[in-house]
Amino acid sequence: MEKFSKLSAISPLNEKSKSVLLIDQNKLPRKLTYMKCRNWEQVAVAIEHLSVRGAPAIGVAAAMGLALAALQAGDKHFDSTMQIAAARLRKTRPTAINLFWAIDRIMSIVEMDLSITEKRKKIIEEANYMRNEDIRVNKSIGENGKILFEDGDVVLTHCNTGGLATVKYGTALGVIRAAWNEGKHVEVIADETRPKLQGSRLTAFELQYDGIPVTVICDNMAGHFMAQGKIDKIIVGADRIVRTGHVFNKIGTYSVAVLAKYHGNIPFYVAAPTSTFDLEQSYDEVIIEDRDPREVYFMPGVTKRIVPKGVPVLNPAFDMTPPELITAIITERGIIYPPYEENIKKIMP
Ligand code: MRU
Repeated sequence: MEKFSKLSAISPLNEKSKSVLLIDQNKLPRKLTYMKCRNWEQVAVAIEHLSVRGAPAIGVAAAMGLALAALQAGDKHFDSTMQIAAARLRKTRPTAINLFWAIDRIMSIVEMDLSITEKRKKIIEEANYMRNEDIRVNKSIGENGKILFEDGDVVLTHCNTGGLATVKYGTALGVIRAAWNEGKHVEVIADETRPKLQGSRLTAFELQYDGIPVTVICDNMAGHFMAQGKIDKIIVGADRIVRTGHVFNKIGTYSVAVLAKYHGNIPFYVAAPTSTFDLEQSYDEVIIEDRDPREVYFMPGVTKRIVPKGVPVLNPAFDMTPPELITAIITERGIIYPPYEENIKKIMP
């Protein structure tokens, strides 16, 4: 059974040592080690450097960062310290809305009419609650989504949406885990996911850990295998889903969705918690994170350049998949089918 779920990408807050443990995802797959964050700045840097990544994990990590700030802030400057920590964490990554959702949720406690001692206690409780809630929500996504998969399915996925991208279970990989645990023998094809290789480094790592069959392909091989009829279904996660059903996810997701449509409408599913929905912004207002060009100049773990000096590169971290390419969106509240604008409203009161 799921051995990976014995691990946790984010530990509960340790009040005694005033710290939080994160699996250092940059060390995977070579080494499974934890980094200890002792303050919000360390959490912010861990998010920026992708030591912790994946929309739900970023959200819970930010909540933990604020809980560390609450533990450390003196009574006199409590509210202002919390504001500074929140502002710093908000600047780490712009696209995954779970980050802002989590920060807003913790900061609403700072606004409450409570004593500093009560606020501190409530913030720590809330951060730990959000961590547990993430696991519960992921399991519900898995339960809701598993009916879409059959025994023998070969399922393509992009990026990492598993226990590493959440607290421990996963969204899209959570659905695969749930199908597998029910006895459906699914096989996973993991896109390597350039430039940071979340597919080959992380998805392959955690599925192998759990004994779920996984094969890695380079991103540019997906069309080839679809043309050969070797992919039955596709499932990905999301960093932000707007009210019209446009999905923002790891760069390359859009290309996979277009390929799926072309190759006879291969079912293309998105799995995400409702905390990933953004009902305020429209798709053309969402900021797509531009990351350091060095991620493209160098392959992770390789010190030699793979692009000649002086040649510019582009490095958007996410892209947008329009609703007409999406078969269904799986959430903890149920499966949403088109028309998305209407049906998202029903599920997100
Ligand atoms: O840049 P990353 O690794 O944080 O991007 C992660 C993704 O795009 C995931 O697909 C998304 O966050 C969903 S994770 C459950």
